[in-house]
Parts: sequence; C-alpha cells; structure tokens
Amino acid sequence: MNVTDDIKQKLDIVDVISQYIQLSKSGRNFKATCPFHAEKTASFFVFPEKQSWHCFGACATGGDIFTFVMKKEGLDFGQALRLLADKAGITLSSKTELRSKEDTARLDRLLKLNEVAAEYFHYLLLHEPEALTARQYADKRGLSSLAIGDFQLGYAPNKWDGLTNYLTKSGYAAEEQLAVGLIVPRDTGGYYDRFRNRLIFPIRDIKRRVAGFGGRALDDSLPKYLNSPQTVLFDKSSIIFGIDRAQGPISEKDSVVITEGYMDAITAHQYGFSNTVASMGTALTDRQISILRKLTRNIVVALDADPAGIEATTRSIVTIDEQIPKDHWMPWTQSKTYAELVKYEVQVVEIRDGKDPDEIIRNSPEKWALLLKESQPIIDFTLKKEIANINFDSSKDKSAVVSKLLPIISQINDAIRRAHYVQKLAGLLGIDERFVSDALFDLQSAERKNKSSYNRKAKRDYTDLTVTSRYIEEYCLTLLLQYTDLREQGLTLSADYFEHSENKDILLKWQANPDIDTIMAGLDPSMIDYFRHVQSFHTRLPGSLILDKRERELALKDCINRLLEGYVRSLEIKKKLILSAEKEKGDIESQVAKLIEHGIDESRQLQSIFKKRGRLFSRTRGV
Ligand code: CTP
Ligand code: MN
Repeated sequence: MNVTDDIKQKLDIVDVISQYIQLSKSGRNFKATCPFHAEKTASFFVFPEKQSWHCFGACATGGDIFTFVMKKEGLDFGQALRLLADKAGITLSSKTELRSKEDTARLDRLLKLNEVAAEYFHYLLLHEPEALTARQYADKRGLSSLAIGDFQLGYAPNKWDGLTNYLTKSGYAAEEQLAVGLIVPRDTGGYYDRFRNRLIFPIRDIKRRVAGFGGRALDDSLPKYLNSPQTVLFDKSSIIFGIDRAQGPISEKDSVVITEGYMDAITAHQYGFSNTVASMGTALTDRQISILRKLTRNIVVALDADPAGIEATTRSIVTIDEQIPKDHWMPWTQSKTYAELVKYEVQVVEIRDGKDPDEIIRNSPEKWALLLKESQPIIDFTLKKEIANINFDSSKDKSAVVSKLLPIISQINDAIRRAHYVQKLAGLLGIDERFVSDALFDLQSAERKNKSSYNRKAKRDYTDLTVTSRYIEEYCLTLLLQYTDLREQGLTLSADYFEHSENKDILLKWQANPDIDTIMAGLDPSMIDYFRHVQSFHTRLPGSLILDKRERELALKDCINRLLEGYVRSLEIKKKLILSAEKEKGDIESQVAKLIEHGIDESRQLQSIFKKRGRLFSRTRGV
C-alpha cells in the first residue's frame, strides 16, 4: 500500500473523469468521445471495475485516474498526485524528507551538530574531573579504553545546560539542537539538556554518521537508558547499533550476530567478535533486516534468555516471511520457499550461563565462541523450546506442540528435510512417527485446498491481478535500480506496460537518468518511502538476492514479457467487454470496424509473447 492506493480507494474514476467530460453508459462501463483527440464516434471508455480508462481510437492509450488527470491538466505525476490527494482529502506527507538544496545543507549541519556533540561528550569522559564517576562506571563495566575510543563513548555532565551552552557557543541555534533531540523545551520557555549524568553511546548509521544517542544511567536510577527521540536523522526502525563498525566484518565473515543491547555489541567487539550489532532492545524491523541482508544472508540472533525477547525476535523474523505473497509469481524460485531460504539461515544462539552476551563474553570469550558455534536453525530452536515446556504425561500438551510446529514444518519444501523434522518431533514427544506424518499430510492437503480455491478466486478477482502486476512492476524496478548493467535493456521497456502510475513515474525518471539521488530528488516527497520500498524490494524476495549477470538479464526479460502479456491481455478483456455491451445496443457494426481499424491485433501479439517466453523458459531450465 502506498499513498496512490489510498487515493484510488477514496476516489472513483467515473466521478473524477465525469468532472471533465460527459460519460454515457455502455453496459457496465462508460464511454465518451475522446477528450484527447477529435472524433465523432465514442472510442474513449472508462472501466469502473478496473478503475481504468482506454481510448481505442487514435490515441490507443489508457491508464488510471492519475494518468487521466496528468494528460487532461498537463501535469506531471507529482502534481497530479497532489491534486487528487486534495480531492480525496488526503494530506500528503513531506515529513522526514528533505529535498531542496537548502534542506540538504540543513541536514549536513544537523549531522555536524551531532558530531560536535559526540566529540564534546567523549572529551568530557576522557578528561573532565567531574566525569570521574562515569570513568569508574565504564571501568566497572569492563570497557577498555580502546573500546571507549572506538565507539566514541562519552559522558553527559550533570547539568541542565552543559551541552546546550557548548553547542550555542559553537554556533548552533536552539532550533537546530531541538531538531536532533539533544535539548527539550521547558514549559516555562527555554530549553534544557536531554542527556544528563549519563554514559553516552553515539549511534551511527551505516554511513558512519551520528544519527542519535543512547545514554545509560550510572547507577540504578530510571530510566536505565534514555535515547534520542525520533528525528529527521534518527529513525529507530532503521537504525542498528554498531553497524558502522560491523559492516566490514559482517561481509567478510558472511554472517551477522544480532544482540539486544549496546553493551552486548561493544563487549563483543572488544573481544574480537566484530560482526556483532545490537537491535537496541526492540523486535527487529524489516527495514533493519533489509539493511543486514545486503551484507549477508546468515543471521544469528543472540537473544536474552527471557522468553519475551525470544518471542519478539522470532516474531519479527516470521513477519518478514509473511510479506511475500506466497501464491504469486516469483522468478527463479519455483523450487524454493521463503522458509527454506530465510528461516533456515536464521540461527539462534541460546543464552546460557549468563544473563546476556555481555556477561557471558566477559566471563569467558571461549564460552561465547562455543555458544555461537552451537547456534541452531530457528526451527530446531523452537522445537526444543516448545518441548521443554510440556508435561509429558499430558496428551493435550503433546497435541498442542504438534499443532504449533506442524505449520512450520510443512513450509519446508525439501521432502527429506521435512521428514527429518517429522522424525525429530515424533522422537522428542515419544510418539509414533506415523501420527505426526499423518497430521502433516492432513494439514498439507488442507493448505492445498485453500490454495487452489484461492487461485480460482484470483482468476475472477481483478484486484488480485492488480496485485500481481504490481509485484512484477516492482520487481522490474528493483532490478533496474540495483543493477546498472541492465540499463540498455531497461531503456527498451515502454512505460505503457506499467499499470500503476507511481511505478510508471519511477520508470520514466530512471529512463531519463538512472542516478538514484537524481530520481529521488525528482520524486514527490510523499513517494520517497514507497521508492525506498521498491528499491529494497529484492531484499524481501527469496532467491533473487544475488543474481549473476545472466540471471538478472533473464529475470528482466521475463518481467518485460510478463508485463507485455498483462498489458495485451487486459486490452483484450476490455475490448470484449465493450463489444458485448455495444452488441446489446445494436450499433456493433461501426464499433467493430473501428476497433479493427485502430486496435492492436492482440492475439498475434500474445502468440509472439508466448513464443518468446517459451524460449526463455527452455533456456532457464537448462541452467
Ligand atoms: N533499552 C532502551 N531503553 C531502556 C532499556 C533498554 O532503549 N529503558 C535498549 C538499549 O538499547 C539496551 C537494550 O534495550 O541496550 C537492551 O536492554 P537491556 O538488556 O536492559 O540492557 P543492557 O544492554 O543489558 O544494559 P546493561 O547491561 O547496561 O544493563
Ligand atoms: Mn546487560
């Protein structure tokens, strides 16, 4: 869902177009003489069910409400978006997005401000007499001076205006200090320092820029940690603590260890476990995962021993799973499920003999290395955990565990591995393996039944088709944005084949200039989030994470063919709809003549597409 969907949901294409031209009914659809070219017989049609329009006359073009308004009012996509959002009563955000040159300059200043603040805190921790307690605290926590330097740890003085005075003297306005969340407004006017008497952890993004800060109390006072609020620089859902220092090692070792806390990550680095990051105590977001997945596909989660933490992280990983529409087309992955590709790479480290990684590593780095080595696939881990909690005399407990685990097992595509887990589950529960495999069989046939009734429904349901076309469009864009060597091929793609205006807009901008920053600068601010989503779309797809040159060329070719096929098919359906409606009214003769005269010969086009696809597939199968 993006804002264009919201708008489409609120506005009806028939209403919108009726504001410009007079439509008359033609069966379930509407027609008019085309507003874009001079004609006597109506060849402009509006399809309410598809929320689209098409001119079968000289224009031979069509689209959705956005393309109509763009064409009619002579607007670009962004302008049409604003106009229609206004009509729909939707406020478009320009929130965290900074676009103009002035805004970029401001962003740079705010980043510099954070940098200055980090240096100030760090200097105090190292040199200031009043930071003695903080130094003692760092010492007590076992932080080496190297780690303190590497992570630029600091001390926020026990004053209301220590930092703000320093920043003001350094030339930063109160408004700027406020924008990055370092000061807090007083009810009575004026401001005070957010961080006071705390050990400071600067939080850097993947480009090593200080996005925000965390501050730990030096004793048991609450809150234990205080963090920067959400700001233009600090977006908690996409920040991963330690990523600035860990990114190299993550790529080199081809694995990442995700802990929960600042101290866990720093201690890990101090003892050489340099591919460690921290999620900062919350469940992982898909943004965070997608950042990590660009570096490695092997994710090891080191969760605190408390069940809530395990539950939360497991949930977040499973959530990513759900983002993939399972029944939709996916290139190159016919034989693989997401479960295999992702869940199987997610390993869980069990926290034993200590309350968190920080404590374990400090006690014994060797022990930690061993625990990492013993990390197990999330499915085994879940199995073990579930079984640990049951009463073996209770058949109810056993059956509850089976029904909880079977859906996970059933997702495994590889029959041998599936059998392995059936065996394991049965063995652990002390029941006959046949019961488990029968239950699995029942579950799978129920799932298949659901799936085929879903498929049948999908054929009738246009919105589902739209979902598929969106999926292909997004996949196509993600390929183009990710692989610069697909440029030539991408330039041959006609934007007409894109059904969704927002994707069309991105494609046209990319065709004009493939530079990501240039594309983003040209986008409406409310579309930036969507653009990011499209840009990172491939990270949420199984199998397509790393494509070699030939694979990606074939993937794009396949996309283009499917788009063309979809385009031609939908045109054919529209034509049939019109013909049957006009037939009822008897003035079919002229319509048919016109359609044949102007229309494309879809069947011939379809035939040639199928031929191309046939060739493509026989080639890919040979891989
Ligand atoms: N956290 C937070 N705010 C809190 C508590 C925790 O932001 N009030 C985040 C911090 O990023 C913290 C992480 O959640 O590092 C994990 O919390 P916890 O396990 O309680 O902290 P530790 O990192 O273990 O801290 P310490 O060892 O200093 O107690
Ligand atoms: Mn801790």
